[in-house]
Amino acid sequence: MLRILVTGGAGFIGSNFVRFWIRRHPQDRLVNLDKLTYAGNLANLADIATAPHYRFVRGDIGDFALVDQLFREEKINRVVHFAAESHVDRSILGPGEFIRTNINGTFTLLEAARAHWRLDGGRAKSADRGDAGGFCFLHVSTDEVYGSLGPNDPAFAESTPYAPRSPYSATKAASDHLVSAYGHTFGVPVIITNCSNNYGPYQFPEKLIPLTIQRAIKRETIPVYGKGENVRDWIYVEDHCEALEAVLERGKIGETYNIGGGNQWRNLDLVQLICDKLDERLGRDDAPRRKLIRFVEDRPGHDLRYAMDIGKISRALGWTPKVPMDVGIAKTIDWYLAHQDWVERVMSGEYKNYFARQYGARLR
Ligand code: NAD
Ligand code: TYD
Repeated sequence: MLRILVTGGAGFIGSNFVRFWIRRHPQDRLVNLDKLTYAGNLANLADIATAPHYRFVRGDIGDFALVDQLFREEKINRVVHFAAESHVDRSILGPGEFIRTNINGTFTLLEAARAHWRLDGGRAKSADRGDAGGFCFLHVSTDEVYGSLGPNDPAFAESTPYAPRSPYSATKAASDHLVSAYGHTFGVPVIITNCSNNYGPYQFPEKLIPLTIQRAIKRETIPVYGKGENVRDWIYVEDHCEALEAVLERGKIGETYNIGGGNQWRNLDLVQLICDKLDERLGRDDAPRRKLIRFVEDRPGHDLRYAMDIGKISRALGWTPKVPMDVGIAKTIDWYLAHQDWVERVMSGEYKNYFARQYGARLR
């Protein structure tokens, strides 16, 4: 039986993972540590809040005493580390919180893991319980650490040198390096995954896909940065969860695995697709939703293109993504249409200030 500490499990990918794991592995203990920042929301987990082996703890990954206590009292033997500040635009408006959570917070978690687990003769040993079925610190990271690709460059491989270009990706790269260093230097059993852009239910409506869906539903202007020519490799969030499950079950300690959707889209094409799907779903009224698109001032340092080479994880662990874009986008649009109360709730308060800072001048 696994005893998993999930960090950031009230956010987008984390909440999808917690629900996925409880459905597939109901016997495992799952402790969700989340600070509940603007991006974390207990409403994301309302349906599993009382699941038998689940516990929610509100707290900061940077609080060593708390994390150490959780390791001890819950006999943690897996960490799945999602907690982070995750939005590039916010990292440009204010990088400080990204340094604190993504770098210092990851450092603190690693210190707690090191206090409890180390590799000994190739096997994970717990300081207080001997070899209790092993340990793994799975660090969930991003393709953005590899930098930006030109239109015809080959996709990022695990061997691609790190070249982060935004405060967000720089802090994620720093955290990846720390995780790797704790593996090499202190023998903490670690695995790193780097994944491409996720989409699906419960994504905070500051990211491109939910922002576009929500504004298209409301017939509000849709901001597209620059000329809309940037390319992202999109993966449906449940496919990411399945990849993380494959890594937890069959991944090799010390390895890095790239995860991606094999699904590259130019931003403008993607936004137009969402507009067209919503026209089909809700009717056009007088004008097609594509008319809502506005090209606005570009993001500073905007990475042109990301794409993942998923050869290693598919060969080594037998994982490939299953959900095609037209299916994933239709499911996502249906979810947002059916959960407008959730959207209204997470968009009240702090989000309004953020939206005004980020788009006020751009959309005027
Ligand atoms: P998110 O912003 O939706 O959620 C982050 C969660 O972490 C929130 O619940 C928040 O409350 C929590 N959190 C933030 N600071 C914390 C702290 N100091 N202590 C405890 N909890 C804290 O993020 P997401 O999109 O779900 O991404 C999750 C992870 O996956 C991140 O590490 C991100 O870098 C990585 N990732 C995301 C994507 C993507 O497309 N969203 C792609 C690849 C990798
Ligand atoms: P985003 O969802 O913020 O993810 P990331 O920057 O981590 O890839 O943005 C995806 C792409 O969409 C990126 O190229 C920036 C662009 N974008 C817009 O054009 N308009 C927007 O309002 C947002 C939020 C993003």
